[in-house]
Amino acid sequence: MNTETVKTALITGASSGIGRELAKLFAKDSYNLVLVSRGEDTLQQLADELKQKHNLDKALVIKKDLARENAAQELYNEVKQKGITVDVLVNDAGVGVHGIFATETDWEKESAMIHLNTISLTHLTKLFLKDMVARDEGKILNLASIVSVMPSPLMAVYAGTKAYVYNFTQSLVNELKDTNVTITALMPNATDTDFFRKAGAENARVTEQLDDPTMVARDGYKALMKGESKVIAGGLVNKSYEVLSHLLPEEALAAMMRKYMEPKDGSSPLMSKGTQKQLAWGLGLVVVGLVGYSILNTINNMSDYDKAKYRYKLNRASRGAKRSIHDAGENLSDTIASAKASVSSVLA
Ligand SMILES: NC(=O)c1ccc[n+]([C@@H]2O[C@H](COP(=O)([O-])OP(=O)(O)OC[C@H]3O[C@@H](n4cnc5c(N)ncnc54)[C@H](OP(=O)(O)O)[C@@H]3O)[C@@H](O)[C@H]2O)c1
Repeated sequence: MNTETVKTALITGASSGIGRELAKLFAKDSYNLVLVSRGEDTLQQLADELKQKHNLDKALVIKKDLARENAAQELYNEVKQKGITVDVLVNDAGVGVHGIFATETDWEKESAMIHLNTISLTHLTKLFLKDMVARDEGKILNLASIVSVMPSPLMAVYAGTKAYVYNFTQSLVNELKDTNVTITALMPNATDTDFFRKAGAENARVTEQLDDPTMVARDGYKALMKGESKVIAGGLVNKSYEVLSHLLPEEALAAMMRKYMEPKDGSSPLMSKGTQKQLAWGLGLVVVGLVGYSILNTINNMSDYDKAKYRYKLNRASRGAKRSIHDAGENLSDTIASAKASVSSVLA
């Protein structure tokens, strides 16, 4: 292997969950690794395993508590002292805190979470991004969340930190647009890691429907490599939550999310994966409707000649579309009815 051309990925939070799965993907593509978290032994085991399996030149472990003051600067200094150039930075390390903000949650935990999820992430981005921009090369992946775009009662401060990560990342996307450096926000839905147990939310209803961390990491990795500004892991079903965040008023979103965060009561999950798929289709139709409305609006403002031209084209297209719509029609009306029922039951 030509070590001159081998790239290095630094991954915080690589000891478990999504970060661990991301580390495996980088190793598979022959990246050298710098793995960071507090769990040195777990990281070392992973580093040894990946180094051997993928014949990596370097898989370094740095033990660091990123919830501590100045931890990001210390980490950066250690990496620089070792003469390592970081080509990809993954800001994955993060925690949640579950409970009623006013009366239940602990400020010490919340302030450590704010430091880890936002301050260290921002500081690491600042330090490594400056070098990347100077080289005009590099990539950053920031772990945001689907709750970045939704209020999340019972995880209010956590949701606030993830809204910050999302907004911060999208702002930098614009600032970096004339460079070869890219930054991507990964927005997973609830994922099957240690996250909810550590957050004190292992009994929340949301844990009844969890995504696979390997799928989440794969979607994030693909988007990062393509230089996309954001990715909602898990395809159409999870994207429908983002669409909902644009369509529903904040109060309704908060009520829906609160139900997910409340303890399980033995009844069936709020929405099965099948129902979520139907909801996604229903929302897709709403979007199609909105696009159709804006097209009609544009047509209304056209000259008579242009209107006649487009009417002819539309007639031709609609003859083809009619045949397909006829086949799909019956399924779609069932889907809409069912999606409507789902949304009503969630908001009830
Ligand atoms: N799971 C979900 O439902 C979900 C959904 C959306 C977004 N996310 C985000 O995805 C990221 C990864 O979470 P996960 O689900 O993979 O959870 P996880 O399995 O609990 O992993 C969290 C990682 O962060 C590290 N970490 C925690 N506190 C740290 C500290 N003070 N200093 C350094 N590292 C620390 C942990 O390592 P050590 O304990 O060894 O330090 C661990 O490697 C987080 O940013 C989370 O907010 C998760």
